[in-house]
Amino acid sequence: MSNQPASRVANYSFMDPNVMSDPYEFYEVLQQEQPVYLMPETGMYMVTRYDSVRQVLTQPDVFSNDTSLAADKSLQSEHAQKYQSILEEKGWGHVQTLQRTDPPEHSRYRKLLDRVFTASRVKELGPSVDNISDELIDHFVDRGSCEFVSEYAMPFPGIVIAEQLGLDRSKITTFKRWGDAMLSMATRIMSEEEVIATAEIELEAQHFLADIFEDRRANPQPDLISALVHAHGDDMAPLTMHELQNLMHQLITGGFETTQSAISHAIWLLVRQPELQDQLHSDPAKIKKFVEESLRWESPVQGLFRVTKSDVELDGTMIPAGSFVIARYAAANRDADKFECPHQFDLSRKNAGAHLAFGSGPHFCVGAMLARREMTTAVGDLTRRLKNIRLAQPLPDPVHEFSIAFSPIAKMELQFEKR
Ligand code: HEM
Repeated sequence: MSNQPASRVANYSFMDPNVMSDPYEFYEVLQQEQPVYLMPETGMYMVTRYDSVRQVLTQPDVFSNDTSLAADKSLQSEHAQKYQSILEEKGWGHVQTLQRTDPPEHSRYRKLLDRVFTASRVKELGPSVDNISDELIDHFVDRGSCEFVSEYAMPFPGIVIAEQLGLDRSKITTFKRWGDAMLSMATRIMSEEEVIATAEIELEAQHFLADIFEDRRANPQPDLISALVHAHGDDMAPLTMHELQNLMHQLITGGFETTQSAISHAIWLLVRQPELQDQLHSDPAKIKKFVEESLRWESPVQGLFRVTKSDVELDGTMIPAGSFVIARYAAANRDADKFECPHQFDLSRKNAGAHLAFGSGPHFCVGAMLARREMTTAVGDLTRRLKNIRLAQPLPDPVHEFSIAFSPIAKMELQFEKR
């Protein structure tokens, strides 16, 4: 008889909604037994150790962001083609920009966005971010209860990014519907009918945005769309309509679900560890640390994709060229080799800021400064104005909606007292 301990990996599957919703035990088993895990259900390689995830993110010559290199191996390649042909026929098919490109092509797009998402611009946005947060809280503070996701966590970052794109705040629900549609193909398996219906929603967004691009071309305003439409110079040709549409797609999908989820998770944490509410209220200087540790502890983006450009060995596993790899940021952020007692939420953790929740390397989140600003405002305002924040109803079981890349919380009914 063999003395080898039985592998625990086979006891879990990411297709199980309970595992997907609370994956941390499985991540730990993978880190110990199969740190580069060939997912039997998808044929993709999931990378879970901190150092290896960083390696994937910082070696674009080996791990490419251009997933079209292995389009035939994507999760629903036939549906993806159908989706693309509907967009091409009635609007603008997806082209590869920014997050879907590698250096040096990536640098051209990135330079453009870095000019817009500067520290001084985020600082300038501060008062408007504060007003949006306060106004949303005004709507429910006297009621003593709210549905937190639809009344705060969704509209707060939604209005911030909508206003940055020069869109009207009253369109927030439509905007959310567009964002959800744009994310669908990357996050869940859909039927053909759903693919067609979802493409139609994205087309609605594309035509709306195309009109705004044309308007800003003629009448520039101090917003992001004007900056992008007029962005050209010695080093770059003006962006085409296809490129503009694709960049909008990334800003809407990148800035919306992620921050909504980050804010929801931060508040859920305050509900589960209520002593933190008073600690942050009496010592707001701790809020920044709280935000970093909460991004480490429950990363809103669990993992994103790369494609290998050559055969590569990682953690003892040979990954063939042309394979899909998932860099699992959320697993890396709970790696015991990097973070002591990784499953413990620890406000005094020294290296919380070393988390990979915003990625690393050339594609490090362009909106990280803005997202951090939104999160500190949210936690600061909510702990300043509300106390004894608690669940009015238990969260669903499992808590998160099924998603391969994210960890969405759909609803959170809260009760509280006004401070
Ligand atoms: C807490 C909130 C957020 C989280 C957790 C997050 C997470 C991430 C991650 C992990 C990446 C790296 C992608 C990769 O490795 O390929 C990324 C990139 C990106 N994010 Fe964010 N993000 C957040 C907020 C935002 C916001 C507010 C915006 C826009 C306003 C934004 C726009 C983008 C864009 C455009 C990229 C692509 C950058 C590139 O490829 O160079 N994100 N984000």
